Amino acid sequence: MYDVNEIRKDFPILSREVYGKPLVYLDNGASAQKPQVVIDAVVRGYSEEYANVHRGLHYLSNIATDKYEAVRGIVQKFLGAEREEEILFTSGSTEGLNLVSYGWAVPNLKAGDEIILSVMEHHANIVPWHFLRERMGVVLKWVDIAEDGSLDPQAVIDAISPRTKMVAITHMSNVLGTVVDVKTIIAAAHEKGVVVCVDGSQSTVHMPVNVADLDADFYVITGHKLYGPSGSGAIYIKSERQAEMRPFMGGGDMIDEVTKDNVTYNTPPHKFEAGTPAIIQIIGMGVALEYMMDIGMENIAAHEATLFTYANARLRGLNYINIQGNAPGKGAIFSLTMNGAAHAHDISTIVDRKGVAIRAGNHCAQPLMQHLGVTATVRASFGMYNTVEEVDVLIDALETCHELLG
Ligand code: ALA
Repeated sequence: MYDVNEIRKDFPILSREVYGKPLVYLDNGASAQKPQVVIDAVVRGYSEEYANVHRGLHYLSNIATDKYEAVRGIVQKFLGAEREEEILFTSGSTEGLNLVSYGWAVPNLKAGDEIILSVMEHHANIVPWHFLRERMGVVLKWVDIAEDGSLDPQAVIDAISPRTKMVAITHMSNVLGTVVDVKTIIAAAHEKGVVVCVDGSQSTVHMPVNVADLDADFYVITGHKLYGPSGSGAIYIKSERQAEMRPFMGGGDMIDEVTKDNVTYNTPPHKFEAGTPAIIQIIGMGVALEYMMDIGMENIAAHEATLFTYANARLRGLNYINIQGNAPGKGAIFSLTMNGAAHAHDISTIVDRKGVAIRAGNHCAQPLMQHLGVTATVRASFGMYNTVEEVDVLIDALETCHELLG
């Protein structure tokens, strides 16, 4: 039985007020709040168990190393990876996608090779590929979304040519909530020898994911959206792809031996993890993932589906609001524009004074904004602790906006 009010008690920030009003936090797409178990793990880490990892033989270093390394197994379970070594720690999705670009794509692509992207990618899954376009002459091929914001997997598959080396695609749009059928894309891409890199920054927050079942080559996640600390993240990289990679960053921990004339590398995954990592943040991410798995990803998805249905109906009752994207099966992420001259920033500011936190802007997805023909939207993005009562507060706040700006 999913008791959202019990879950809310785990998140201390949710009981605070802003501007004298109860906080209604609907900016989960940008970053999620943290449960007490994560906060406790961070405090305990620094106050009782802190030392560097992999380097010391002393008591604290051993504890920190054990706790840090245990997170690999937690991420493996969370993502359904077959092997623990296929999990690499990162600072978040941005580092993960740059690792794929520098570590795998640079040594494996040449001028004229193609990378296929959807028009609704986040900048983190665009700019690392633009680097390759600028510096190596790699060609970026864009696939449009349909009118309702859905992405036809066949459109991606049809874009694959003999020069295509990679498809880099989101599993769930951070702007529209569209869920992409990456499994179909991956199966077809693999038949043509094309590698698929999946941005799982949003999907893993809202639904169960199994990378082995998807057969993804690369799959990135980011801790701060998963109710964990910022500065934490992970990437699943299939062993065959790891064998084709070279290290992206050089430094301590990723080496076996360094001499004046030569360097040999540590075994994966450490080969791709240079320098002192975000030790406590990664430990905190592990606690957050265990917290989510304890609640159950299916249960979280079901709760959010209820929120989606209710919010969708209520928003559609406002005839001055346009919901951008209405793909079947989309997640509880609503990008909105208002008829008339109201700017997203004004809407967000007025709503904020009612205690409602939503995001306004281009959501790090400018090609999508260009496709939609808007400069900005406001976005209400729901998480596991949101309630239908909070949807009502959002609707009242939007009504006030319309009265003031309409
Ligand atoms: N990528 C984050 C968002 O969607 C920051 O808001």
